[in-house]
Amino acid sequence: MAESNTDTKSSNQMWGGRFASGPDAIMEEINASIGFDKKLFAQDIRGSVAHATMLAHQGIISSDDKDKIVHGLNTILSEIEGGNFEFSRRLEDIHMNIEARLATLIGPAAGRLHTARSRNDQVALDFRLWVKEELEKTEKMLTGLIAAFLDRAEEHAESVMPGFTHLQTAQPVTFGHHCMAYVEMFGRDRSRVRHAIEHLDESPIGAAALAGTGYPIDRHMTAKALGFREPTRNSIDTVSDRDFAIEFLSIAAITGMHLSRLAEEIVIWSTPQFGFVRLSDAFSTGSSIMPQKKNPDAAELVRAKTGRINGSLVALLTIMKGLPLAYSKDMQEDKEQVFDAAESLELAIAAMTGMVRDLTVNTARMKAAAGSGFSTATDLADWLVREAGLPFRDAHHVTGRAVALAESKGCGLAELPLADLQAIHSAITDKVYDVLTVEASVASRKSFGGTAPSEVRRQIAFWRARN
Ligand code: ARG
Repeated sequence: MAESNTDTKSSNQMWGGRFASGPDAIMEEINASIGFDKKLFAQDIRGSVAHATMLAHQGIISSDDKDKIVHGLNTILSEIEGGNFEFSRRLEDIHMNIEARLATLIGPAAGRLHTARSRNDQVALDFRLWVKEELEKTEKMLTGLIAAFLDRAEEHAESVMPGFTHLQTAQPVTFGHHCMAYVEMFGRDRSRVRHAIEHLDESPIGAAALAGTGYPIDRHMTAKALGFREPTRNSIDTVSDRDFAIEFLSIAAITGMHLSRLAEEIVIWSTPQFGFVRLSDAFSTGSSIMPQKKNPDAAELVRAKTGRINGSLVALLTIMKGLPLAYSKDMQEDKEQVFDAAESLELAIAAMTGMVRDLTVNTARMKAAAGSGFSTATDLADWLVREAGLPFRDAHHVTGRAVALAESKGCGLAELPLADLQAIHSAITDKVYDVLTVEASVASRKSFGGTAPSEVRRQIAFWRARN
């Protein structure tokens, strides 16, 4: 162990302050993780309590020492929670900060806590517990977002809007149907979260440095006490593995991508040109120079947070990809990526849930837009197939001519006089006008998963039963 900075300084009064302490200070700075891993204090203490209890149960430490350790750890927990704990960078990380304080509080018994354990399995445990809690929080937040969408979908099961492909008007859909598309997306994210919780539900403690331990520990006991399904099976893998963190980041990245697409739609929809939705005052900002403006800043920031989350995923994959088994200090860099992504994701889901709940939908505007761009052209073609027996390809061609005519006349398909339509194809009758409205178009799409209000209501019922 190198001398501490202060010792080095004092041993070399002439130049030590300028020189010898230089590299030492840098070493301390690059080595320390306390600045960020103090977030793991509660998990660290929980893990230590479970470990000490198991050690005593197995007769590895005395129950008297265990009591002192547990009491001391609880004192430290309230000190940290109460903001009365002094974290020291010289003690490197949360594990050593807590252990050093324990020694001050209870004396030599503190030295027995680290029996049959290493910081390698300790940090794997703390971080797993943290990620597990974060995943549980994410699951709840996604449930809240899905609930917000279900309410809006129910309210707008019949509200017609243009459906887009290539951001060009394609076919009329309902806003409720569009909302339910997001429910599917966030529902998949939530099931990924549930799988990840199941995946990581194994306890690393007891893997020790990498090889396990000669002490007669009971890893099943600590696993159970810490709420894990079972202990991990291979001690080398256990201290080398950060898959659980990478899975969290992958899920965060996919969820972020979904949130960002939604954010993009909100940005587009809230422009005066679209005018489909209006954001509440609570989720928009004004401009300091242009008084008329209402900016969708929250949506834009959700879109941007996604870039940040993607960065964290790529960073951790890159940190891990070259590491030989088992633990390397590189792995200390896992935490900030996950903490930052977790904060961004929580904020993004919360902001989106608020926006979805609060936004005002301009149904008249949506309906008007739904009728533009010859959005019922497919309905005309389908009518020709159904009522006049044309093959779909021919019907497509006939409809194309009707669209071209309407375009040249500057009107919609429903405004073309019957004589004009009959000149294009003699089988057309005035019954065709029944399918050229956006409402009729939407109502006809009753195929499973389609946009008809009855189908949208069935989708809502499906998800209500699962939310
Ligand atoms: N602070 C370290 C980390 O976050 C704890 C593990 C240190 N282990 C070691 N062998 N130096 O990864």
